Amino acid sequence: TYVVTENCINCKFMDCVEVCPVDCFYAGENFLVINPEECIDCGVCEPECPAEAILPDSDERATPWLEINAKFAATWPNISVKGTPPADAKEWDGRPDKLPLLSP
Ligand code: SF4
Ligand code: F3S
Repeated sequence: TYVVTENCINCKFMDCVEVCPVDCFYAGENFLVINPEECIDCGVCEPECPAEAILPDSDERATPWLEINAKFAATWPNISVKGTPPADAKEWDGRPDKLPLLSP
C-alpha cells in the first residue's frame, strides 16, 4: 500500500484524490489517509502530492504512519474530488513535528 505521512498535515492539497483509480482516500479536517485494504499500489498518487507526503510502505519513513492511515480510514468519509486546501497550506509545507496538530 501507499501511505500518507506527516507533511500532509495542515497542507491537505488534495491533488492525490483526483488520480486514484480506486478512490481509496479518506479525509479528516487537516489530513488525508489511504485505506491500506483498498489501495492497489498503482503509485500514481505519489508524484501528484505537492508536499511529497505520500510514500510506499516499503519506505521506512512510512512505517509509523501505516497504522494511522488504517485507523482513520475506518471512520473518516471517502474523498474523490479535490476541495479547497487550507488558505495557509503552503506555509505548512516542510514544517517539522506536525503530528500533534493532526485533528482526529
Ligand atoms: Fe490510490 Fe494508487 Fe495511490 Fe493507492 S497508490 S492510494 S490505489 S492512487
Ligand atoms: Fe495531503 Fe498531498 Fe494529498 S498534502 S491531501 S497527500 S496531495
